[in-house]
Amino acid sequence: MTTKIRPLAAGNWKMNGLSASIGEIKAIAQAAAQIGGADVLICPPATLIAAATAAASGRIAIGGQDCHAKASGAHTGDISAEQLKDAGATFVIVGHSERRADHGESDEVVRAKAEAALRAGLTVIVCVGETHLQREAGQTLAVVGGQLSGSLPHGATAKNMVIAYEPVWAIGTGLTPTPADVAEVHGFIRHELVDLMPGEGAAVRILYGGSVKPSNAAELMAVENVNGALVGGASLTAKDFLGIASVYK
Ligand code: 13P
Repeated sequence: MTTKIRPLAAGNWKMNGLSASIGEIKAIAQAAAQIGGADVLICPPATLIAAATAAASGRIAIGGQDCHAKASGAHTGDISAEQLKDAGATFVIVGHSERRADHGESDEVVRAKAEAALRAGLTVIVCVGETHLQREAGQTLAVVGGQLSGSLPHGATAKNMVIAYEPVWAIGTGLTPTPADVAEVHGFIRHELVDLMPGEGAAVRILYGGSVKPSNAAELMAVENVNGALVGGASLTAKDFLGIASVYK
């Protein structure tokens, strides 16, 4: 079955960016019209979401990097999906490996956050990916399969949910899996999605993330079942991010 999927070129700024960085968002938004073949999204730190939304002026989407499962309450320092939406976000990333590692987030926690995102009307990007040790042990598909079945929110559709496959060992290291390895995991994720989400799974966007750069984007984005990128370091400047997104001119 062939389903035409509109790709998503997404940037995750992580804990980077001050108000001076809004110029990069402006530059990306201004160039977005030339990226006719994909949707464009930047997820700045929460402190910049409102300013980024203003700078984007509807030409690109702005998202959060995490949310709490509850809509409001006594949770000092946390941010709800409703608050992200109120600040202008239309997407939120959940289950990034840095959150799973730094904050001990389990699949159950990730699922609750993903369901909060849907409750607030955000599109959720659910991240999955194996560590180097797990890959060496031949557990990649088992780990990714477990994360998918454990973290997918109830009520997910091809419109309100995106999957990002980010091998932990490829994040920020300059290392990437071979196109054949990416094809294997993305093919597996597609198969699982079709199984878990009848009628929707074939059309869900599956992003690849981990050391995507202008120099390797074309090769990685050409892999079957790769429907865009989730870019960390190279999304911090308009020049590098647009060098990647221009694969979808
Ligand atoms: P890098 O592109 O810096 O490897 O980060 C990828 C990532 O974690 C995006 O969420």
